[in-house]
Amino acid sequence: MALRIGAVPIGFEVGLGALAGYSDLPYRLICRSLGAPYCLTEAMLDRQVLLEGKMRKRLVRLDPADHPVAGQIMGVEPETMAEAAAALDRMGFDIVDLNFACPVRKVVAHKRGGALMNDPARALATVRAVVAAVPGRPVTLKLRSSFRSADACRESFWTIARGAFEAGAAAIAVHARSVEQKYAGRADWAFLAEVKRAFPDRTVLGSGDVTSPAEALRLIAETGVDGVLAARGAIGNPWFFAQARDLAAGREPRRPALAEQREVIYRHYRLACEAYDPRRGLKILRHFSLQYAKMHPRRTDLRNALVPVRTEAEWRAVIDAFYGT
Ligand SMILES: Cc1cc2nc3c(=O)[nH]c(=O)nc-3n(C[C@H](O)[C@H](O)[C@H](O)COP(=O)(O)O)c2cc1C
Repeated sequence: MALRIGAVPIGFEVGLGALAGYSDLPYRLICRSLGAPYCLTEAMLDRQVLLEGKMRKRLVRLDPADHPVAGQIMGVEPETMAEAAAALDRMGFDIVDLNFACPVRKVVAHKRGGALMNDPARALATVRAVVAAVPGRPVTLKLRSSFRSADACRESFWTIARGAFEAGAAAIAVHARSVEQKYAGRADWAFLAEVKRAFPDRTVLGSGDVTSPAEALRLIAETGVDGVLAARGAIGNPWFFAQARDLAAGREPRRPALAEQREVIYRHYRLACEAYDPRRGLKILRHFSLQYAKMHPRRTDLRNALVPVRTEAEWRAVIDAFYGT
């Protein structure tokens, strides 16, 4: 059955997960144009969403071509999270996603993100406050499988997941690693299967080690989750979604020719210059080109050529030399 989150139809089961530093509006638009059915913003601090200013403008920018989209928020106080959720609702985000998963030390030290995996009472108070603040808007959660790697029973996970569904959450997305694990080691797909078995009638999305379109489909087939969120595997490969659609339809996944890669890189550059300013646009694309390079047959030479690039003219010269003009 086609994926839905609450009343929001998503359709295809492979979406773009939240990625700080990557899943901004320009990259989301690139992924959309290549078949991503659903995207999430980077994690935003609830206070940033509420503070009017340049930072907020940059984070919450929406585009008619970028729907359905979830705004992801992170915070400590349930009331502030609820206010931020209401603000996202007014701005027109289709879904509000709560980040209880971020393992960054500073975030956890401030009791945000992944710290909530260790504080089910606060996590559930947050879910309840947010659900009440955005009636009719699906609220979803991004969870880790536990806080500590040694926590074999994962009691807090189950308390939060069960309580969240009872409180009206529309879906949970589970990154099958502990907060302590950060991004190291293998993701525990068997746990994702266990979660889906526990919530057969609820929407469960899987995350972790979705390294390729084939792995995305394998995760769904092996665990029974309703959909997956691609993350590191889709950084620099926005064709991920079209390729996953090809595979799901039984077709050979189409590999983009260099001319198409070039067109996407320049389009991404234009979108980033429009969304921010030319200086920041160049900075973002210099960084992103290193990721796009993984699709290039001469990736190492290309990366070496990109490293010393400083100006727009230097960057264009490298792109044109490796991708053609
Ligand atoms: C650079 C980077 C930034 C990330 N930022 C976020 C974020 O802002 N919010 C979030 O929920 N997850 C974030 N994640 C986690 C991913 O969405 C995903 O759950 C995780 O990387 C596991 O999937 P993977 O093993 O396929 O990469 C981030 C991951 C990376 C590598």
